[in-house]
Amino acid sequence: MSTEMVSRRRAAGLFDRISKSVHAIWQKAAFRPDVAVILGTGLGNLTKRVRKEATIPYAEIPHFPRSTVMSHEGRLVFGTLGGKRTVVMDGRVHFYEGYTLEQVTFPVRVLRKLGAKILIVSNAAGGLNQAFKKGDLVLVSDHINLLGVNPLVGPNDNRLGLRFPDMSAPYSERLIALAQRAAVEKGIALKQGVYLAVSGPCLETRAEYRMMQNLGADLVGMSTVPEVIVGVHGGFEILALSIVTDVCDPDHLKPLKIEEVIQVANESGPKLDDLVEAVVEQLPHVR
Ligand code: HPA
Repeated sequence: MSTEMVSRRRAAGLFDRISKSVHAIWQKAAFRPDVAVILGTGLGNLTKRVRKEATIPYAEIPHFPRSTVMSHEGRLVFGTLGGKRTVVMDGRVHFYEGYTLEQVTFPVRVLRKLGAKILIVSNAAGGLNQAFKKGDLVLVSDHINLLGVNPLVGPNDNRLGLRFPDMSAPYSERLIALAQRAAVEKGIALKQGVYLAVSGPCLETRAEYRMMQNLGADLVGMSTVPEVIVGVHGGFEILALSIVTDVCDPDHLKPLKIEEVIQVANESGPKLDDLVEAVVEQLPHVR
């Protein structure tokens, strides 16, 4: 078999797996979402605000990766949020768990094929910007991919997106403006910054934090960027929001435990949930 044929087969394999997942989901829930939300570490409570029509555990969806981290539930929740048909991914997988980036981003492909056009991603992140405080809510304006890999490496299936997707504005200016307006209306303080993605799982050294600050990053985390890259590739309009769970001050760095990250995310969750709900509510009719 020629190299080109092997490539084409691999690309077709991804397309077929997406279709299989979508069909399995539609057998359980005949639902076409307009909005998709991916929830970050400690931020699962948003599902309580969804007027639920169906819940499907990832274990029941063919090819869906399952989280190995306790703080993530692992289910798709379908229903109405802020008056819009929404699917919430309660629990995501990370590159550091050992999944390939194709596996990490597979759900994004499925959410798009289910019909969603808007993607809202949340995460817990370290605050590199010294103006940020623990518990701050930050709108992601742009990103830096320091994962050392890219989820689009490999054969490209033109049915899924372009070979060389543009990255001049991965985060929708329309959604950023909408989120800023909604935050003012709700009295929620909202900052803005550049998110830098690392693979993890270890946290960063002081020298690494200094380097990241010098690179122009305001936030650091171990998720979001792969999903956003694949989201752009697939044609999603994207909004990303971070909760600052720890302040990365290289000159006064204290040891950080994941339990603290989860606690701060849990405490600030309601603020993030309020904002996401308000944004979804204020979206003009999606279709
Ligand atoms: N570094 C990387 N990922 C993180 C951090 C951090 O300081 N905080 C929360 N996620």
